[in-house]
Amino acid sequence: MNEKILLLIKPDGVRRGLTGDVLSRIEHKGYILENLRMHAGDLSGLLDEHYAEHIDKPFYPGLKKYMTSGPIVAAVFSGARVIEGVRSLVGATDPTVAAPGTIRGDFGRDWCSGALENIVHASDSVQSAEREIKIWFS
Ligand code: CMP
Repeated sequence: MNEKILLLIKPDGVRRGLTGDVLSRIEHKGYILENLRMHAGDLSGLLDEHYAEHIDKPFYPGLKKYMTSGPIVAAVFSGARVIEGVRSLVGATDPTVAAPGTIRGDFGRDWCSGALENIVHASDSVQSAEREIKIWFS
């Protein structure tokens, strides 16, 4: 089965020059980079679609401000159990407590910016990956 995952390198990751490091960690694990695209400009509509389940949450305004603060790099990786594998490389949502050795644990911290800046997003299920890949690569 050729499972796929959507990975976003968020504006903090792009701004801090971490795009290559993030992509290489996933490639070095053995997953295949299938597609890659940088998104710049007005990403408001894409983000509302991508984060539809979070729109009514109290943290959404801060999340949207953070996610529209600069370009985003979208990537699709494939491989057996790629969702499980990439999410393990990515680490816990909160970078302050994400385990050392993970992308968020090694590269992220709390910047007191009003948003949980955590470098990357990775799809959490096959259904989410299909939906999210359509949003970022249509
Ligand atoms: P991500 O993996 O992209 O999925 C949803 C995003 O919302 C998450 O990373 C964080 O950036 C953000 N997020 C999730 N929970 C919270 C929270 N409790 N407070 C602020 N931001 C959050």
